[in-house]
Amino acid sequence: MKKLDNIIYEKIKKVGVITLNRPKYLNALCDALIRDLNEALDDAEKDDNINVVVLKGSEKSFAAGADISEMNNKDFVDLLKRDFIMPWERLSKFKKPTIAAVSGYALGGGCEIAMMCDIIVAAENSRFGQPEINLGTIPAAGGTQRLTRSVGKSKAMEMVLSGNMITAHEAKELGLVSSVFPTEILINKALELANNIASKSLPVLIMAKEAVNRAYQLSLEEGMKSERRLFQSTFSLSDRKEGMKAFLEKRKAKFINK
Ligand code: CAA
Repeated sequence: MKKLDNIIYEKIKKVGVITLNRPKYLNALCDALIRDLNEALDDAEKDDNINVVVLKGSEKSFAAGADISEMNNKDFVDLLKRDFIMPWERLSKFKKPTIAAVSGYALGGGCEIAMMCDIIVAAENSRFGQPEINLGTIPAAGGTQRLTRSVGKSKAMEMVLSGNMITAHEAKELGLVSSVFPTEILINKALELANNIASKSLPVLIMAKEAVNRAYQLSLEEGMKSERRLFQSTFSLSDRKEGMKAFLEKRKAKFINK
């Protein structure tokens, strides 16, 4: 893959690690960065050796939101003609499991792209917020939708209407993040979790992810139907046979992603 200007993409065993890399601007999400991110995601999705993606920023900032200097001169018609947020949705449609490892600021679009990931793990120094209200606008990449489903109406309203940030521990209490770690060990902990997930069968991971995501999209009854069908589908896989056989033979399963 060609070198990208705004991210670093590394492959560590079965984990693709994408580092947002515009440190001068606290990883503000300009169009070029989103293009680079999507290129790395396309590569990771096609790569049979990659099972999981970890998305991270710097220690000071995961991402400080959409790039305000790029947005500054746009008007309503510009946005109608070219919805610059649309390409951001690539991450939410990525098939393999994704983990956001958030250290420092996850603000505006930064909080929103973290929420597009399947799991958020956070460093103790992390801060989450939707400060768009201070810029005279509102969130545009899930900050009123995913955040509300994640933390409930009252807290989402407080965050979106006041622009106030919450700490890593508050985010954990609210269920926005799954774990909080001392800042210096965040990446190792994120990789440990990623390696654990990456050791499973990829087609089963893809189905499990789809099944959980259905909980956001469907009624309970339809969600249950979808879960049952996906469960049944795992019975078409060699990896399902291997998983159960290995358990009964008291050995570790060897998955072949088939
Ligand atoms: N866009 C463009 N540049 C940004 C930026 C952003 N979102 N966030 C920070 N920067 C730039 C600053 O302009 C500054 O650049 P210069 O050195 O050239 O002046 C550099 O990054 C460092 O920032 P600060 O000097 O402000 O650093 P700080 O440590 O004092 O403050 C901060 C950190 C609290 C994160 C502050 O930078 C800040 O409030 N940033 C903006 C956060 C924000 O409002 N995000 C929402 C954007 S809108 C959005 O995301 C819409 C959407 O839903 C899609």
